[in-house]
Amino acid sequence: MPDDHFNKINIRALDQNETVPYNLLLLADPSKALIDVYLRNSIVYIAEQENKTIGVCVLCSLNKVTAEIKNIAVATAYQGKGIGTLLLNHATAIAKEQGFRTLIISTANSSAGQLYLYQKLGFEMMEIRKNFFIDNYAEPIYENGIRCKDMIMLSKSLK
Ligand code: ACO
Repeated sequence: MPDDHFNKINIRALDQNETVPYNLLLLADPSKALIDVYLRNSIVYIAEQENKTIGVCVLCSLNKVTAEIKNIAVATAYQGKGIGTLLLNHATAIAKEQGFRTLIISTANSSAGQLYLYQKLGFEMMEIRKNFFIDNYAEPIYENGIRCKDMIMLSKSLK
């Protein structure tokens, strides 16, 4: 449940001239090279508390009707307080407002908590990209004792 500081959290789009919070983005995606590719076509939203950036969410336009949340991360000390949910709901509302009909979010086969959270917020599994993390990341990744191999894509209708 949100704590006492929940109401003091502000979410806003990052200006082009502001520093991108790579420290947070790298919590969700260990490849800076891949992050830099999707940042070119995205808007970065940050969650701030007392001028400190504690969360980030990257909304990328794939085409006229489909957007994708490419990256969502909350600073470790602030996780489990509802901020991720707040950022996901914010990105969903913005995508809908901008006229997108479908919102996609992807994670790994090993990301049990993330799969739980996204489905809880209404995303449904749509596709599995076999061996995506083996083919695109230099180092093996393990989560919850499971090898991160496949990308699970989930989508939500915004109609
Ligand atoms: N393991 C278990 N449960 C989790 C996890 C997890 N990793 N993450 C969220 N949950 C559950 C919470 O327990 C909570 O459950 P409840 O509603 O039943 O109480 C629910 O999901 C909502 O949690 P929030 O507090 O809103 O989520 P949080 O602020 O911690 O943000 C996030 C979730 C963004 C996944 C955060 O944990 C994080 O930054 N993790 C590291 C980076 C990461 O893995 N990002 C996602 C990668 S995929 C992508 O970027 C598209």
